[in-house]
Amino acid sequence: MLPQNPPKHLLILFIVLTFFTSCFGTYQENPFANFLEHDRKMNSKPVYSSFSKLVRQTKTSTTTSSSKIVLINVDDYGAQANGKDDSEAFKKAWDRACSSKQSATIIVPKNKIYRLKPVTFSGPCQSDLRFKIYGTIKASAKMRDYEDDRNHWIVFDNVQNLRVKGGGIINGNGRTWWKNSCKINKNNPCKDAPTAVTFIECKNLIVSNLWFQNAQQMHLTFQKCTNVRALSLLVTAPGNSPNTDGIHVTGTQNIRIRNSVIRTGDDCISIVSGSKNVAATDIICGPGHGISIGSLGAGNSEAEVSNVLVNRATLSGTTNGVRIKTWQGGSGYAKNIAFQNIVMKNVSNPIIIDQNYCDQDDPCPEQKSAVQVSNVIYRNIQGTSASEMAMKFDCSKTFPCQGILLQDIILGSVEDEVAKASCVNVNLADRGKVSPQCS
Ligand SMILES: *[C@@H]1O[C@H](CO)[C@@H](O)[C@H](O)[C@H]1NC(C)=O
Repeated sequence: MLPQNPPKHLLILFIVLTFFTSCFGTYQENPFANFLEHDRKMNSKPVYSSFSKLVRQTKTSTTTSSSKIVLINVDDYGAQANGKDDSEAFKKAWDRACSSKQSATIIVPKNKIYRLKPVTFSGPCQSDLRFKIYGTIKASAKMRDYEDDRNHWIVFDNVQNLRVKGGGIINGNGRTWWKNSCKINKNNPCKDAPTAVTFIECKNLIVSNLWFQNAQQMHLTFQKCTNVRALSLLVTAPGNSPNTDGIHVTGTQNIRIRNSVIRTGDDCISIVSGSKNVAATDIICGPGHGISIGSLGAGNSEAEVSNVLVNRATLSGTTNGVRIKTWQGGSGYAKNIAFQNIVMKNVSNPIIIDQNYCDQDDPCPEQKSAVQVSNVIYRNIQGTSASEMAMKFDCSKTFPCQGILLQDIILGSVEDEVAKASCVNVNLADRGKVSPQCS
């Protein structure tokens, strides 16, 4: 189980990590200073050349010729912020901005609460857009408003070069949905609830300085997007609100989530199939279910997730710390993953790979195929476990976890018990001090 010499795949892993360090860079600034401050300067190293060009362009356009930017205030399109529905005004403002030949900025004024029914802001648009939310956008709480599409509230679809920011609030008003969830009321049928904000097939996207509250289900989803930065976000919902993931990443490539605080009732960050080059840095998480890759492979599906870095995170009181979860019977892979520089405070399962994930009422029968988990490094992870099992590798019998490296791991138990590790079907190597050890 514990090879003396690092196997070849660890070398590959090292190369991957070098790639991460050079590609994503490191950040020196205090991660949580200037939180939710307006127009936070982005002085980080550029990641993707076309994307960084966008960042530069938007920067210079603010400083040089603001007269060239078309300003579109939702109030001028009929938004009242008086408790009645403002959806039509927002749609009109979007259509005007999206058809503008010059860069346009939509403004949602501060100190006002705008009510929206489900609304889709579609691209492609004629030029770069900014959506500045200074005030509050609040969801309609009437479930019948969502009859056409129960899965979405606000959608940005197929938009390029978009920035959404402003320091304002997006409130999903989710209480009615939570009450009706089958996880809260067992008599109710299990039905989907809307994701508060979904970006679909967006390219070159920046979402920053916003407070997402009380989503109906997930708060923020990036679906099939490319080149995304999600910065300085605050995401909050009660710890017992069902399925209220913070940030969900699906089918998305080149995404950095940085400098964000997520306190909800489900995963702080969940990364699922089709996602590649995902970096989450300076994250505070909890309450919630932790930072998850997966679940993958549900319903015998194929899943592919690769190149994921979670760097500098603090998880407090969460049910999991860093987790990879796959269903039996899936196929594909989760590979080249690094979890590093992480503090766990009273986390129930600080480090866990669960290849027997089964989130349904019926038991999941044993199946041969599995999503292959390989090349996962856990480095510099310290803190306390709320349960005695601080590390759990429950891997597939037919596709054991390959190339798992533990380096400088010190996890204790909050109780008086000694922390333990459980390691099943896993090819594991140690570096530095690793505690607990597999029993
Ligand atoms: C740790 O978490 C458990 C629940 O997981 C809670 O009951 C307990 O009070 C927490 N302990 C501390 C010291 O925070």
